[in-house]
Amino acid sequence: MQAGSMISSRLLQALRGAKSVAVLTGAGISAESGIPTFRGNEGLWKKFKPEELASVDAFLRNPDLVWEWYAYRKHVVRESQPNAGHRALVDLEALIPDVTVITQNVDNLHQRAGSKNVVELHGNITRNFCNDCGARYDDEAIPETPGVPRCQKCGGLIRPAVVWFGELIPPDQWRLAETAARRANVFFSVGTSGIVYPAASLPLLAKDHGAYVVEINTEITPLSDIVDETIIGKAGDVLPEIVAQLRSPKEDFSQ
Ligand code: OAD
Ligand code: ZN
Repeated sequence: MQAGSMISSRLLQALRGAKSVAVLTGAGISAESGIPTFRGNEGLWKKFKPEELASVDAFLRNPDLVWEWYAYRKHVVRESQPNAGHRALVDLEALIPDVTVITQNVDNLHQRAGSKNVVELHGNITRNFCNDCGARYDDEAIPETPGVPRCQKCGGLIRPAVVWFGELIPPDQWRLAETAARRANVFFSVGTSGIVYPAASLPLLAKDHGAYVVEINTEITPLSDIVDETIIGKAGDVLPEIVAQLRSPKEDFSQ
């Protein structure tokens, strides 16, 4: 394949004129960092039932088990590094005046890569809070115990600061996501299966407000029908290619 041929001139043109770009990301963008996705053959939800591990009921029923599962995932995340896809979104900030990354991921990799404007729809696994009094704890502030750690202030159970099934997306984060989607001239949906709402409604919201909507995924998803363009490929290949094309002065669309 000719280098850059996966990037359409329509997309390049839209990006060259864009003042505002919003990027919705899902587990797929972190797959190349070695963090398992939720769905698909190797996905976490193939091996574990989400309702047994990722809900407040599950946590109250079996706090040690749920904590152990998150302790394992915290470990995986700590040992991983941002990849070329995360870095390309940082590079985009130098090329577009307004870039918002709206992530469903809890792995903190966009922030570690250096993205300045990250909206966390599903929380962040590197933070925690007391289920009773709400006191906040960074990972470093938590004593290494075999089971679930206890709040130093009230003795309550400490839980990861992630959004569980049955819980609401933090309203302030949702407002930021909606605003960014409405404002975007170009909207990317990257590495998400597009079936978990309300996050999956953002590409359509962006489109309704005039954005050119582009999906980047290794396969077709339910979003593929509504977007303007789907680029089949790995986020870690496609996003750096888009940045490279944007930087290159080769193509002149003025004629
Ligand atoms: P999924 O696991 O549902 O989907 C991952 C998507 O990434 C799939 O569509 C894959 O085809 C795609 N993919 C895999 N590798 C890729 C790569 N290298 N480049 C591009 N795409 C790739 O993950 P999400 O859509 O993020 O919610 O899942 C949404 C939410 O469901 C998660 O945030 C989580 C889960 O339950 C909560 O925890 C609240
Ligand atoms: Zn407490």
